[in-house]
Amino acid sequence: MNIIFLGAPGAGKGTQAEIVSQKLSIPTISTGNIIREALATGTEMGKKAKEYIESGKLVPDDVVIGIIKERLAQDDCSNGFILDGFPRTIPQAQALDTMGVEIDKVVEISVPDESIAQRMSGRRVCLACGSSYHLVYKLPKKEGVCDNCGGDLIQRKDDHADTVNSRLKVYHEQTEPLKEYYADKNKLSIVDGQGKVEEISQLILNTLED
Ligand code: AP5
Repeated sequence: MNIIFLGAPGAGKGTQAEIVSQKLSIPTISTGNIIREALATGTEMGKKAKEYIESGKLVPDDVVIGIIKERLAQDDCSNGFILDGFPRTIPQAQALDTMGVEIDKVVEISVPDESIAQRMSGRRVCLACGSSYHLVYKLPKKEGVCDNCGGDLIQRKDDHADTVNSRLKVYHEQTEPLKEYYADKNKLSIVDGQGKVEEISQLILNTLED
């Protein structure tokens, strides 16, 4: 199954993608994680993306489309995948169509802007493996240390309040039109992203079975 997770920054796309990808045994492809990794290792692409990602703007379409093309060509995507954070603009969605990538389901995880700020301010991520935690909702076993790899937990630069506001604005202006794009193709399902993580996972799995 080829799936897209849509939703505002902090809506829970990454959290849910991790759970659903294990249940369905398909990989998650997060353009945000790929870009942050490139930034950390100082590749040419990472250098190009730095100012965009840190200020909460979208990285240019040609850069992310190139990333996705390369990633989808890998063998582990042959039985399906979850796209987390791609597409984010209409031209990105059109690029998927042009590549001949058939999308089965688009799930929007819906969370109002008012709840987003609280989620973002409490998020901590592992510097080494990218795993995500929350100071209230998902505590690591040991404070400041990743359960999965023992790496240090930090706050993402783009999770600071002023950048979160810019990211929300960018989301509403550039990404939300994708809801109509996929609704017109009868592919969109909307899931309430407020509540317990496992309840939301169940709602998503139900919608994928429909
Ligand atoms: P990206 O990394 O994709 O960030 P995002 O879409 O803004 O999404 P987040 O990772 O912030 O949130 P999420 O929805 O995954 O939520 P999470 O599960 O972590 O992109 C970052 C940047 O990269 C962009 O700004 C852009 O610059 C660039 N980029 C990436 N893709 C691009 C593209 N296609 N085109 C152009 N540029 C691109 O949850 C958030 C927190 O809430 C966590 O702490 C979690 O524990 C907690 N939480 C989750 N679920 C719940 C729940 N049910 N209840 C309470 N807390 C919860």
